[in-house]
Amino acid sequence: MTFDSFAKPTPQTTDLQATFRIVPQTTACEPLIDDLLDRTFGAERQEKTVYRLREGLPAVESLSFVAVSEDGDLIASLRFWPVTITGRPAILLGPLAVEPKHQGLGMGRALVAAGLKAAKQQGHQLCLVVGDPAYYAPYGFIPACPNGLILPGPVAPERFQVLELVAGAIEGVRGLVERAPEGRTTEGRKPERSVVA
Ligand SMILES: CC(C)(COP(=O)(O)OP(=O)(O)OC[C@H]1O[C@@H](n2cnc3c(N)ncnc32)[C@H](O)[C@@H]1OP(=O)(O)O)[C@@H](O)C(=O)NCCC(=O)NCCS
Repeated sequence: MTFDSFAKPTPQTTDLQATFRIVPQTTACEPLIDDLLDRTFGAERQEKTVYRLREGLPAVESLSFVAVSEDGDLIASLRFWPVTITGRPAILLGPLAVEPKHQGLGMGRALVAAGLKAAKQQGHQLCLVVGDPAYYAPYGFIPACPNGLILPGPVAPERFQVLELVAGAIEGVRGLVERAPEGRTTEGRKPERSVVA
């Protein structure tokens, strides 16, 4: 399955959209998101290698989404962080988290599809993730280590994956993934309007 075909609404995501909305995140959401991440990943989440790439940098604002219930409760969050691969800009998907009582309903998949669609529309070329390959392979993510990409710390190699948002974007891109330079949070352009699922 290609990324584009996955990004189209499935019957499951269409049903979900009647109950939940995926909307751009505001800064007011951030304490709620931190609390959700602590509960879903554990407070030690910040010791993971991916957090070294996020330290001191804001997420890509135009790629920060939350899912909210009809009552306006925050149910899930997805953000992307800017990184570089030997100087070339890329984005790092995550953290992705869904409130435990709403897990397994397709919300995570709907958020990832919406986020990747927006990333592509905004001109990003390469997306990285550290996560379960079974969850991310349907979007087109492939193992990153065999493609010569290296993270600046320990990670289970099979969990480190890369997705071309533009065909051929991975060609010639090898080496160390690093924190994006301060002040340059993204290469992608701002959306002309908010992109929601
Ligand atoms: C992982 C998570 C984001 C998935 O979101 P979700 O809304 O519960 O998942 P969805 O309903 O979209 O997808 C459900 C499918 O994903 C699978 N799945 C759920 N969590 C998974 C995981 N950690 N690894 C692999 N597959 C997973 C389910 O088995 C289910 O598969 P099926 O459709 O074949 O039965 C969510 O469970 C969560 O927040 N977990 C805690 C935080 C976390 O581990 N995040 C990992 C991000 S890398």
